[in-house]
Amino acid sequence: MKILSNRRILLIDSTPATHEDFRKALVPDSSDNPDLYLIEAALFGNDMPIVPSHYQLDCVYDSEDGLLKAQQALDEDQPYALVFVDMHLAEDVRVVEKLWQIDPRLQVVICAAQSDYSWETLIDRLQGHDRLLTRKKPFNDIEVQQLAQVLTTKWEMTELASVQMDRLEQLVAQRTEELTRTSEKLQHEIDERKNLESQLVQSEKLASLGQLAAGVAHEINNPIGFISSNLGTLENYFAQVTEMLLAYRNADKVLPASPERDRLADLHERIELDYLIEDIPLLIRESKEGIDRAGKIVKDLKAFSRADSSEQWQWADLHQGIDSTLNIAANELKYKADVIKRYGDLPQVECLSSQINQVVMNLLVNAAQAIGSERGQIIISTGQEGENVWLEVTDNGSGIEPQILQRIFDPFFTTKPVGKGTGLGLSLSYGIVKKHGGSISVKSEIGVGSSFKVMLPIHQSSGLGTARPS
Ligand SMILES: Nc1ncnc2c1ncn2[C@@H]1O[C@H](COP(=O)(O)OP(=O)(O)OP(=O)(O)O)[C@@H](O)[C@H]1O
Ligand SMILES: [Mg+2]
Repeated sequence: MKILSNRRILLIDSTPATHEDFRKALVPDSSDNPDLYLIEAALFGNDMPIVPSHYQLDCVYDSEDGLLKAQQALDEDQPYALVFVDMHLAEDVRVVEKLWQIDPRLQVVICAAQSDYSWETLIDRLQGHDRLLTRKKPFNDIEVQQLAQVLTTKWEMTELASVQMDRLEQLVAQRTEELTRTSEKLQHEIDERKNLESQLVQSEKLASLGQLAAGVAHEINNPIGFISSNLGTLENYFAQVTEMLLAYRNADKVLPASPERDRLADLHERIELDYLIEDIPLLIRESKEGIDRAGKIVKDLKAFSRADSSEQWQWADLHQGIDSTLNIAANELKYKADVIKRYGDLPQVECLSSQINQVVMNLLVNAAQAIGSERGQIIISTGQEGENVWLEVTDNGSGIEPQILQRIFDPFFTTKPVGKGTGLGLSLSYGIVKKHGGSISVKSEIGVGSSFKVMLPIHQSSGLGTARPS
């Protein structure tokens, strides 16, 4: 707590007579009646009577004691406001310098006897001339009282100003903190808004992608259907035609020699009938496999895009979703990593399956992108834990720096070059998982790899068919 009222004065002077004079001027006998000063002021017309009993005066004879006193007073939290120093002692201005080193607030009066004393020399040496006065000795009582009054009041006012300044600084700091908090809150709201907007953009993108995929799947499904069925029929027909051809060839052996028989033999040679009979069923089988594969891709596309625009909660088989997603992501993955599946036993899960597929897709693509030029490994594991199921995508890619780990779920945070990543994948996934009442966590080590674990409740508390509020 700051002291605001201070009438403590120190006199450093080697002459006992000066001590007496100062005492008389500043601390008269307690028998003195302060009212006398008021009467004296009234009689002699002094405007402002000075009541000396306000002051507390300490006198010492040498500068060493003076410095000691100043230090002691400060230690006891009773600092001096004003020091009178005899120039004789202060001629080495170091005394004043030392006084200010002890307590820079001290008001100092240098009492000089010599008339040729140079103020400029003192100014040159001392920086604190706003707290320094020099007066020629001898002083009369009134001069001493005036100096004491003015300079102790100055000390008090300076202290008051400093207290007010402190308070002002505190207020400014408080206001700044409030402003910072408001601006942080605002920033948070802006981030959240950005997050929502980006999720919206992403889900709109997904919805239209889903529609496109569903449309294409539907269109391709038809031709695939009849090609597949035709190939089956063709296989049967060709088996019959082959049977017929073989019968002809056997009959051919027993036919009498004729130009007609020679022509048949030539034709047989030319078209390499034996090879054709062997190769055509192979071609048909390969075509059937191809069309089956195309059918599967169409099925995956349908699974991927299903509902997904209409946001229907449904009971879904997570493994089926992961497999469809793996098929779709196959191109991205096959040159980069071996995919190992470690599926546990999972019940059906109440979810927005296309959105969960999207989460798996983001995690798989991130894992593949984290793997460098050497072929890596991506492990997809699943399991059940009480009322939850989990799925984990682990890669042995680059790993994530600990200092950015906090930020990877932030919208637009990406370390990938422009055009390769928008930084939305994980934030979108985070939003989807949250919407399911689940959680997503990450473990990562530089140079070893990363592991993303998604935890989902099996049942949605709001019940099947009701879209949860996001
Ligand atoms: N498996 C991983 N290994 C290493 N770093 C990862 C992995 N997954 C995510 N990251 C880091 O997190 C960042 C954010 O990922 P996020 O999926 O949100 O965005 P992105 O992949 O950069 O871009 P987008 O997914 O929009 O194409 C990535 O840029 C990358 O630095
Ligand atoms: Mg990504």
